[in-house]
Amino acid sequence: MKKVLIIHGPNLNLLGKREEAVYGKMSLDEIGKSLKVKAKELNLGLESFQSNHEGEIVQKVQDAKESGFSGIVINPAAYTHTSVATRDAISAIDIPVVEVHLSNIYAREEFRHTSLISPVAAGQIVGFGSKSYILGLEAVAGLI
Ligand code: DQA
Repeated sequence: MKKVLIIHGPNLNLLGKREEAVYGKMSLDEIGKSLKVKAKELNLGLESFQSNHEGEIVQKVQDAKESGFSGIVINPAAYTHTSVATRDAISAIDIPVVEVHLSNIYAREEFRHTSLISPVAAGQIVGFGSKSYILGLEAVAGLI
């Protein structure tokens, strides 16, 4: 069975309590549960990882293939707009990475309109709330 790694960036541990109008009511745990259901349907193994630390995310991306993952779905959160290191790690690996965002980053503040990640991702899904992750999982499943 192929395995997919879900990576959640900084502050996403606060989902469900954080800016509900923007990010919705679902907690990270609830999103994880809905992803498990979808992974089962797609016959995929799944592991989720959240970190508030850039280096930990970079390491996880670097190690993904060796750890047995065939693809990654990542919500880099604020690092989307700032982290050359995350971008370079994604660029360095040869498994597909799908970038997802709960909110439509292009309809928000200007500083969120730039993603350093999208040029090195297989594709990007924005604006569908927690469903962005489900769509991201379906997208990566089609690539592995
Ligand atoms: C986010 C959008 C980012 O701009 C923001 O910093 C986040 C969450 C989203 O999922 O909509 O933390 O990645």
